Formats: sequence, structure tokens, C-alpha cells
Amino acid sequence: MEKMFLLKTEIHQFATVQEFFESQKLTKSDLIITNRFMAEGKLKGHVQNASLIFQEEYGSGEPTDEMVMSIKKDMPNDIQRIFAVGGGTVIDIAKFLVLESDGSIDEMIMKEKEYHKARELIVLPTTCGTGSEVTNVAIAELISRKTKKGLADDALYPDKAVLIPELVESLPYKFFATSSIDALVHAVESYLSPKASEYSKMFSCKAISMILKGYQTVIREGKDHWNQLADQFLMASNFAGIAFGNAGCAAVHAMSYPLGGTYHIPHGEANQLMFEAVLRMYERKDPHGRLDDLKEVLANELQVEKETSLNALYHLMDQILVRKPLCTYGIRKEELPVFTESVIEGQQRLLNNNYVELSYEEMMQIYTSVYDK
Ligand SMILES: NC(=O)c1ccc[n+]([C@@H]2O[C@H](COP(=O)([O-])OP(=O)(O)OC[C@H]3O[C@@H](n4cnc5c(N)ncnc54)[C@H](O)[C@@H]3O)[C@@H](O)[C@H]2O)c1
Ligand SMILES: [Fe+2]
Repeated sequence: MEKMFLLKTEIHQFATVQEFFESQKLTKSDLIITNRFMAEGKLKGHVQNASLIFQEEYGSGEPTDEMVMSIKKDMPNDIQRIFAVGGGTVIDIAKFLVLESDGSIDEMIMKEKEYHKARELIVLPTTCGTGSEVTNVAIAELISRKTKKGLADDALYPDKAVLIPELVESLPYKFFATSSIDALVHAVESYLSPKASEYSKMFSCKAISMILKGYQTVIREGKDHWNQLADQFLMASNFAGIAFGNAGCAAVHAMSYPLGGTYHIPHGEANQLMFEAVLRMYERKDPHGRLDDLKEVLANELQVEKETSLNALYHLMDQILVRKPLCTYGIRKEELPVFTESVIEGQQRLLNNNYVELSYEEMMQIYTSVYDK
């Protein structure tokens, strides 16, 4: 008997931040992890009774093991509920803090033991990408290992995900682009995963459809238009999170992690750098299978011929977020074998979900194909 589908997190939607926090009756035993611009912006006047931590005071960019450890040291005692109000960075930090553990983050991720949940987790996403509000995964850069790695444990499922579109509206275009590309990659990778079920595929397809419709509107109406679709992108990202929370992500994510870890390329941008090259390799190895179904889904959404639908998808994504060759980020060619080895050694959790198996040589070909063009 195989498990087909699981959604552990309650999903709520509120029209305004005010309405949500009025329903919560915050006290000092509630910890809000967020950014200062949120506390002084949309959250102002609603969270003064809670304990507050601002993520950016512990370092810039996406979570590192050191950042999480410093925040953990500063967390007040007796916190009962953690509210994460932010993008994947803030959400994943909060997830680590929910667990009872006295080891380092590196140990927590590498040892893969069972964890106990010590407090409630309520997540209010402010980007439209990670889907982390409904998954059991938390990801951090392990500084000494020069890569990112995820901890997957059921104790990490948030208790509640609260979707409030007005929280997302202030997102700058660049992070709208990187986070929504991440959501699209979640939807596609989970659709192609051997673990996909009819249930997860339904969420993948709906997310793909909503994101592609949104992208077409943004390209037609102009970049400033995206935040009028914030509610659609927020929900699409949540659907994609539900899909990959069940069926998993795969090689695109696995191969993007050394880029995020070593070169601090934002997660969605790093995914976009690997996406086409991985799918081209999949197509070369097995053009039939689920990839053929995906082409049909895309052809219907983009109103193009099935055989050109993947190219149409790559083109659309490039219009949302411009891609640059890996060499322009300062990556050296000699590092590509190191990246490949680190993916094979450290990302088996994701590689197990590949549409087809990829060898060392094939992963090297993928990295090389996006290195200088
Ligand atoms: N745990 C999971 O299941 C999962 C899944 C996918 C990605 N991730 C992780 O999520 C992280 C990326 O998250 P992200 O793409 O949401 O970006 P992010 O959280 O890193 O945010 C990107 C930038 O946008 C800013 N920002 C966020 N919300 C804003 C708003 N409403 N207005 C103005 N500025 C805002 C942030 O301060 C930051 O500077 C990566 O570390 C990635 O590994 C986790
Ligand atoms: Fe992702």
C-alpha cells in the first residue's frame, strides 16, 4: 500500500493582516520572526505584544547554519508559538527553531534522527515561491560544506499556513520573479517525479496553469502589474508547495544548491539557471513517459504545438527573469566537478525523485552546457 497524499497544515486566508492578528491575542510567549521593514510596515500596530526577532540582524541572504544558531541563542525562553512572517528565508529559520534540539544545525541536518516539536508554528508567507508554509522541509547553507541541504522531518510541518495577499504586494519585482520561478519549478519537478500521484499532479497542474497565466498577463501589461495578481501567485505557490511536499523536487533543485551555497545566487534564480538544461537532458534520455504528458499540459496552457511547448516555456521564463551563464557569477570551470560530486554525495534525497537517473557524466554535461552560454 502506498501513501498517495498528505496535507498536515491547516490553510487559512485572511483579507487583512489586522484581521488575522486581532484573532490571535498575542503575548510575550509568542515569537514573531520577520524583517524590520515588515514590522514597521504591514505589521505595525499589530504585533507589539509579542517577542520579535528580525532575521536581517543575523546576516544577509538565505539561511546559513550560523545564522540559525545565532537566532536560536537569542530566542527568549518559554516561547509557545512561533509566527514566521517572511519569505522562505524567514520561514525555514523558524522551522529549525520549532524543534527541540541542542546540537548544531549541521548535526541536525546530517544526522537525520527523529525530532520533537517543542512549539506551534504559524506561517505567513510574504513571497510567492517557497511553499515552505506547507512542507516538512527546512533548508540551510552549511557553510563548511559549501552547499545547501534540507532537513525533511514531519515535525517541521507548520500547524497553520495563513495566506494574506497584502503581505506579498510589497515584494520587489526581482524577488517576485525569483520566488515565482521557484514555485513553477516545484510544480514541474513534482509533476515529473516518480512519486507523483493523481492527487499531487492535480496541484502541480493547477499551479503551472495559474503561474503561466499570470506570467502572460505580466508580460502583456508590464512588470508593475504583477502585484495586482498577488493573490493568484500566492495561492499558486501554495499549490506547488502541496505538490512537491508530496511528490518531491529533484535534479533542478539538487544541482542548484551548490550555486546557492557557494555563490549566494538567490534560490529561484539558481533553479532557473539549471531548469532548461536538466529538462533537455531528461528529454534526450526519455522523451516519452511523464515528460510527454507535461508537454501536453504546457501546449494547452500556452496555446502552442506540443512539440514546441517546452521551448515556449523556457522563453516565457526568460522573459520574467533573465538568465546569465554560470561563468558571469565568478564560478570557475574547475569547480563544476566539485559541484557534481557534492550533488551526488549530499543530495540523494532529491536525486531519488529524478524523472530519469542522471550519471556523473550527464550532470557534468548539464553544468557545462550552461557554463559560458
Ligand atoms: N523549506 C522549503 O520547503 C523550501 C522550498 C523552497 C525554497 N526554500 C528556501 O527558501 C529560500 C528562498 O525564499 P524566497 O524565494 O521566498 O526568498 P527570501 O525569503 O530569501 O526573500 C527574498 C528577499 O525578498 C525580501 N522580501 C520578502 N518578502 C518581502 C515583501 N513582501 N516585501 C518586500 N521584500 C520582501 C526578503 O527580505 C529578501 O531580501 C531559500 O533559502 C530556499 O532554499 C525552502
Ligand atoms: Fe525551491
